[in-house]
Amino acid sequence: MLRVLAGHGPERYRRLRAALPARVRLAYAVKSNPGAPLLETFVREGAWFDCASAGEISAVLGAGGTGSAMVVAGPAKTHRDLQAALYAGARVQVDGIEDVARLNELHTEEAPLRVSVRVHPASGIVEGTSIIGGSGPSAFGVDEEQLDEFLQMAAAYDGVLITGLQVFAASNELDPGQLLANHRTALRIAQGMHERHGIDLELIDIGGGLGVRYAANEPSLDIHALGSGLGRLLDANPWFAGELLLEPGRWLSAPVGIYLTRVVRVKESRGVRFAMLEGGINHLLRPLLTGQSFPVTALDREGDTTSYTLAGPLCTSLDRVGTAELPVDLQAGDVLAFGQTGAYAYTQAMSHFLSHPVPDQHWWD
Ligand SMILES: Cc1ncc(COP(=O)(O)O)c(C=O)c1O
Repeated sequence: MLRVLAGHGPERYRRLRAALPARVRLAYAVKSNPGAPLLETFVREGAWFDCASAGEISAVLGAGGTGSAMVVAGPAKTHRDLQAALYAGARVQVDGIEDVARLNELHTEEAPLRVSVRVHPASGIVEGTSIIGGSGPSAFGVDEEQLDEFLQMAAAYDGVLITGLQVFAASNELDPGQLLANHRTALRIAQGMHERHGIDLELIDIGGGLGVRYAANEPSLDIHALGSGLGRLLDANPWFAGELLLEPGRWLSAPVGIYLTRVVRVKESRGVRFAMLEGGINHLLRPLLTGQSFPVTALDREGDTTSYTLAGPLCTSLDRVGTAELPVDLQAGDVLAFGQTGAYAYTQAMSHFLSHPVPDQHWWD
């Protein structure tokens, strides 16, 4: 049995929307799960979308979304990505002066194209898991220490106007205080753009990064504390008259998905107990990339538990999909359910490896 079960109800989106001040827009980060039923739900709810490629732009348009409710970001945007963004009428987040020069060429209308610049902070960012990169060297955006020079260079291009900022340097954060500390850093950078370069920012995109519980001992993110903190942040920066944009992926999509796979056999090797599964990193790559397991339970089997290493069917010792506490008498044929797999799970995997079967995907209302 190889299955991905995914819901697409609007409840989670509505809960988050209700916790945020009116001046905080909400965009869904399509990369976490571009499934059409999910995108259609968010379109109906009036969400914006954060897209990272021409493919994601076309998925959102296909689901009924519009370019006017879309931001397009990415550290290595191709010509096709930029053209698709312009064609849709989306707001592009530029990652360097090369993006500005190419947009200046592509944009043919008289009024300049209004874009945002992604900035990678020099300090004031903490990231628990190293997914986006904290304050270290980064593939993303313009380094903060080069921002003044970048803005001077960008001002020379008549066809492009910088009117927005994007800062996103930390992912899967469960502490609202830490998220807000990172957002204060974004506002500090924005204030510098306003004061030193006279830029009236219309949009400050503070990224995603809202965490979900992968382990039983982790807390749930308090979205009300986050929402009221964002309200206080807006009040503390009266010079800023625009909107904040929050673009979570994982928080909206992780809990809507469950991945099911069968145990093929159980083996003991030199003191380590392995559960060998039908599906491996060809379906769930994230545990290998981040060292973090999805929460796993055995269906229809209870009793005393012990620690298992979960290994897939691929001919490489890299094929590990995490560790889990599971019943001691786990057996061939038992089904394991991986929770929180609506985000960065099957859609992030390497499904062609070794020509193994791909899971069925089922969506429910
Ligand atoms: C630019 C950007 N926005 C939003 C997200 C979504 O992040 P998360 O799913 O952690 O909320 C990502 C994730 O990589 C991203 O790169």
